[in-house]
Amino acid sequence: MKYLIVANWKMNLGIKESAALAEEIRDNLPDKNEAEVVLCPSFVALTVVADVIRGTEIALGAQDVFWEDRGAYTGEVSSRTLKEIGCKYVIVGHSERRGYLKESDEVVHKKVKQVINEGLTPIICIGESFNERQEGQKDYIVMTQVTRALSGIDIVGDHKVAIAYEPVWVIGSGQAVEPEEAENTHRVIRQTLIDIYPTATVNNNFKIIYGGSVDSYNVVDFLKQDTVQGVLVGSASLKAKEFINIICHTT
Ligand code: PGA
Repeated sequence: MKYLIVANWKMNLGIKESAALAEEIRDNLPDKNEAEVVLCPSFVALTVVADVIRGTEIALGAQDVFWEDRGAYTGEVSSRTLKEIGCKYVIVGHSERRGYLKESDEVVHKKVKQVINEGLTPIICIGESFNERQEGQKDYIVMTQVTRALSGIDIVGDHKVAIAYEPVWVIGSGQAVEPEEAENTHRVIRQTLIDIYPTATVNNNFKIIYGGSVDSYNVVDFLKQDTVQGVLVGSASLKAKEFINIICHTT
């Protein structure tokens, strides 16, 4: 199993900064690593980053997508265009979009469907808020989000899907959850997937990864967990050295 290590640069970098960071990561990638490394710059930096990583093993990902193939949708970007640029992955339903842009489970579902039909891999973000956690709703929330994102979508053949469990309240806080807690939630997610798809499909076509204040120190303990198959990294992916150190822990 190859760990999936995703850098989510959010809206932090301009075009030149994105190219420079991608170059630094490309040039310092450990020779032997057990990871599928994905860089997710903003839409406008995708083409320059695609140029920087062309011919390497680093994959390109977008941070969002629209759910229709083409048409009068001002300001939106289609999965077809993302594929043309060279994206292999698309983050869908990040909590910042669910929060600031009011993306519902229904919108997330439509985007996931579009991305899979395009032959790209969605990285579906799910996770509970602090209040939901305090109210004992965590498992219910993640089960509901997974089910609503995927129900009715066939996952067959070489379709790939990543589920990123990101407790909303720890994102960007510098304080991750205990790796054992992530592991417990990952088990709930895995069971939810098994309720929808055959076990073999869950084993072969899905990866469950953790996100939320992952850094080069705590990543080791996350990757030690049985069901943590990678990490989604925000803040710590903005410094090449730190991100490279995270990748080094997969070897
Ligand atoms: P963080 O962000 O690593 O800064 O917590 C993770 C994410 O939002 O994907």
